Amino acid sequence: MPDESLIESDKREKKIAKILAVCFALLFLADFMIVSFIFSWADWVATLIFSLLLIAPGYISNAGMVLVGGGKPIDGGKICKDGRRILGDHKTVNGLIKGPLYVGIPISLGIYLLFIILWPFINPIVEAAASIGQYQLYSEVSYYQYYFTGGSLPIGVLVLIIRIILCSYGAAVGDLIGSFLKRRFGIESGRPFWVIDQLDFAIFSMLFVSIPALISPNLFLIPDLNIFIFLMILTPSVSIIANTIAYVIGVKDVPW
Ligand code: CTP
Ligand code: MG
Repeated sequence: MPDESLIESDKREKKIAKILAVCFALLFLADFMIVSFIFSWADWVATLIFSLLLIAPGYISNAGMVLVGGGKPIDGGKICKDGRRILGDHKTVNGLIKGPLYVGIPISLGIYLLFIILWPFINPIVEAAASIGQYQLYSEVSYYQYYFTGGSLPIGVLVLIIRIILCSYGAAVGDLIGSFLKRRFGIESGRPFWVIDQLDFAIFSMLFVSIPALISPNLFLIPDLNIFIFLMILTPSVSIIANTIAYVIGVKDVPW
């Protein structure tokens, strides 16, 4: 792209980033109000906690790919029939394999280990809240136990490990599919593809963690619609708002 039109395009993208940041902040507020109205505010807080616990390995792997990525591109430089790269130079074997393996999975294991240790202290708080009728939707303590420790221990540890691996690699695969779509739409590597960029990895993290529930519904839960909707709002919100703030305070050159 020539310099002039790149500057123009950057300007337009920056404007879109700001508008989207406001839109997602409003959606976030709407989600809080709707869930609080239909169920209770405590259920919304539970949704927030469950969602973050479930998706954390995906978020961390996504960041990890940037840290440990680089090197040989997965598509080997190959061009698709449409004359554009299959995935592009920004999708590397290192990022795909090592992002989850060296960053996402080990950090997530550490975080969950902490929650397993803390569970005896969290459990009575949840039981007390449930017993005074704080929850309409998540009144069973088993929900909390599933998200915090993978279910009853020791089998919960195995559930957690499976969830962490699937969520981490789900994020890595989703990110590739996002890039594949971007190239098909003619968007160059590194240029923004709003909402898809922010959601590709989260959608595939969710799909991947749902797979074992189809095989073993006794041990695994399919994340309910409430959690799915929440994550589809939270993920772009966090990403766009964080990047916009980083851009406004001058840490980043572009708000994406
Ligand atoms: N990365 C990588 N391998 C991957 C995924 C990411 O090496 N499989 C690294 C690359 O250094 C990439 C960075 O993480 O530049 C940021 O990833 P992302 O934001 O997804 O890349 P984009 O620059 O947006 O590329 P694309 O347009 O293909 O999405
Ligand atoms: Mg991407």
